[in-house]
Amino acid sequence: MHPILHEALSRSPVMPVLVIPEISMAAPLAEALASGGLTVFEITLRTDCALEAMSAMKDAVPEALIGAGTVTNSDRIRQAKDYGADFVVSPGTTGTLWNASIEHQLPILPGFSSASEAMALMELGSRCGKFFPAEASGGVNYLKSLAGPLPDFMICPTGGIKAETAAHYLGCPNVVCVGGSWIAPIDVLTEGNYAEIEARARFAGSLS
Ligand code: 3PG
Repeated sequence: MHPILHEALSRSPVMPVLVIPEISMAAPLAEALASGGLTVFEITLRTDCALEAMSAMKDAVPEALIGAGTVTNSDRIRQAKDYGADFVVSPGTTGTLWNASIEHQLPILPGFSSASEAMALMELGSRCGKFFPAEASGGVNYLKSLAGPLPDFMICPTGGIKAETAAHYLGCPNVVCVGGSWIAPIDVLTEGNYAEIEARARFAGSLS
């Protein structure tokens, strides 16, 4: 596994998935998360300021590892590289996306949602994947079932995971960390409640 990806997956038990509506929120958000102990972020490329937000968060917290999320085509990988992403995250995987990650030398946490898709990733040389959408695709039971036949495939489940369920996922032997938007949801972010985000980050970082 690429060393940056290995570090991104193993630094903390929870990777916050962030939707950032305003660029002014990026730096205080990064600082609140870091104060709570989380320094690996997935920033979804779904808002106008998302690319700039990655740079702003890196400036605010230089030790942060920044993942560009919702990457669904090779243009997005190129843009993520240009704006300083350390890695990219995709909801699913195509050969084109995989090859673009190699071409741009930007490690990818590739999306999958079935045993066949995990096996296809292993054929490409991946040793990890983002199980998405985790709850809708079978959740903890599905992941535990994959651990027997695919014990060496490390998984970051994301999609529908909450503060109350994250620990169940982390109890799976093949789950290296979990992703989720519940650490910094849009309503808490919009009201500027960074103390709440810091508290949620601290709780997330304490999970195992
Ligand atoms: C995403 O890419 O949006 C993540 O899967 C976040 O899912 P969540 O909002 O259900 O945590």
